Amino acid sequence: MDLSRLRNVSIIAHIDHGKSTLADRILEICGAVDAREMREQYLDSMDLERERGITIKLQSVRLDYRDHVINLIDTPGHVDFGYEVSRSLAACEGVILLVDASQGIEAQTLANCFLALEHDLEIVAALNKIDLPAADPDLYAGEIERVLGIPADEVLRISAKTGDGVPELLDAVVERIPAPVGDLDAPLQALIFDSHFDQYRGVVSSVRVVNGELATDAKVRFMQAGTVHEANEVGVRRPEPTAVKSLGPGEVGYLIAGIKDVGEARSGETVTSASKPAPSALEGYQEPKPMVFCGLYPVEGDEFSDLRDALEKLRLNDASFTYVPETSGALGFGFRCGFLGLLHMEIVRERLEREFDLSLIATAPSVEYRVIRTGGEVVEIDNPSEMPSPGEMEGIEEPYLKITILTPSTYTGTVMELCQGKRGVMKNLEYLSPERVELQYEIPLAEVVMDFFDQLKSRTQGYASLDYDPIGYQASQLSKVDILLHGDPVDAFSMIVHKDFAYDYGRKMCEKLKELIPRQQFDVPIQAAIGGKIIARQTVKAFRKDVTEKLYGGDITRKNKLLQKQKAGKKRMKSIGRVDIPQEAFISALKLD
Ligand code: GTP
Repeated sequence: MDLSRLRNVSIIAHIDHGKSTLADRILEICGAVDAREMREQYLDSMDLERERGITIKLQSVRLDYRDHVINLIDTPGHVDFGYEVSRSLAACEGVILLVDASQGIEAQTLANCFLALEHDLEIVAALNKIDLPAADPDLYAGEIERVLGIPADEVLRISAKTGDGVPELLDAVVERIPAPVGDLDAPLQALIFDSHFDQYRGVVSSVRVVNGELATDAKVRFMQAGTVHEANEVGVRRPEPTAVKSLGPGEVGYLIAGIKDVGEARSGETVTSASKPAPSALEGYQEPKPMVFCGLYPVEGDEFSDLRDALEKLRLNDASFTYVPETSGALGFGFRCGFLGLLHMEIVRERLEREFDLSLIATAPSVEYRVIRTGGEVVEIDNPSEMPSPGEMEGIEEPYLKITILTPSTYTGTVMELCQGKRGVMKNLEYLSPERVELQYEIPLAEVVMDFFDQLKSRTQGYASLDYDPIGYQASQLSKVDILLHGDPVDAFSMIVHKDFAYDYGRKMCEKLKELIPRQQFDVPIQAAIGGKIIARQTVKAFRKDVTEKLYGGDITRKNKLLQKQKAGKKRMKSIGRVDIPQEAFISALKLD
């Protein structure tokens, strides 16, 4: 294939700025999908993606435009999936920066643009949604010029919804983004930038050939994994998968090599020829590291093996989450799972419940602490119940983040208040324009994990955006707060908190649980304790027996309904010691503010 006619481009955009809608328009203009087959957000294939309107896994598609071939690589917009963004950037020569013309550029988008600039990628900027009355393209084109140095008059103005300006955007892609370079005669080097598991075909990897040729039936070596496989099928997505004989330098497509586990064909892996291997792997292989942990337990104890099967299957598709079996005194057998972030955690849980029909209880999210035991041994702990007692340790360290927040300047005060309340230390404050501010803080990950993002959104009416980078561990004054029900500690409710917040946490948790735990046949004391010392207490009083009592006579259907409801409720109950706790208590208990 004539390299000079090839363009590899990715779209960088904040959630809801219209990336999927733009991809749909581009697909239409390039005649890639029949108008009849066209459905909204064609590239978002997972149900959950469609429902939540977010892109989780990236997809690439090969398009014909004028006499050029454009490989369009879709990327996820959420901060948890930043690793996938950096992978897809490595497969491109340029990016389309898509910004909502009524909102301006957001923190994560800016971070991704800097990443693109570091990779020397060409940026074609476009302001989207110019059809909206609230659009202010002049203002935001000026902002893009100030923060990224892209001249305002080079910023395109489009509406992905109506299609206005989209052909001009494609023209700009062809004209401004350079063609790939590569050596056909060199040994094969191809970058895997995404893999997913297909139940019929095994692992399907998206690849970008850098040098050499990736041919069907060739024996290929996965350089980091150290394994050899046969390339059963090599092809391109148009967007329907179409087999080809081979992919040459600069080309993007997919590879199926009879692999059963995506962990073996991870993003960032280099594929080379088994007979004529490249001397070195391509740059940029990095294991995604889980940052947030929680325990997942089946509501019904006998669903444990189903949960294990489900986790195994799901991991085939998502190598970035981890799980190891654990046992909880309160919840029985389950797994401690690690995720890239909170959204990732929610998505995995939802997929488990939905795709595998499981009812699960998730414990409070935790981060990985480093505990220095008396005597100097350092242990890593991602489950609060494993924390040694205060007498057995010399110190504890927790992971910190550098966060960048972009917000309209009217909210600067409330954002600063939020960050300070979460133990953040301000590092920088800069005005991007009179209307917008960039704030930088160093802040413990544990504080961000809880409800930071929700609070940031509600305090700024959804206008602030957040980006984060881990910056290592720092020593902190932390204590473990235990919650006791009827005298028994409930390990699932144990929590590691900063000592300044410990009393507050214990008190709020007791109050909350008092509301959430239904009355039992007997009084249930709820206590919070630090290392054996009780710091708060509440009591759930014994209940009156007949739930229908208050419906004195009359309407039988109403009475039946209530009994039905109670029966359904029972299913979602977990017995702890002698106490029944509804699943909602576990979920709601995390939402302390
Ligand atoms: P993620 O996949 O979550 O990253 O979101 P996205 O960036 O792909 O956004 P999506 O395409 O789903 O668009 C978000 C919302 O904006 C949808 O309701 C679209 O209909 C709407 N939208 C997208 N482009 C335009 C536009 O040009 N004009 C108007 N008025 N609405 C648009």
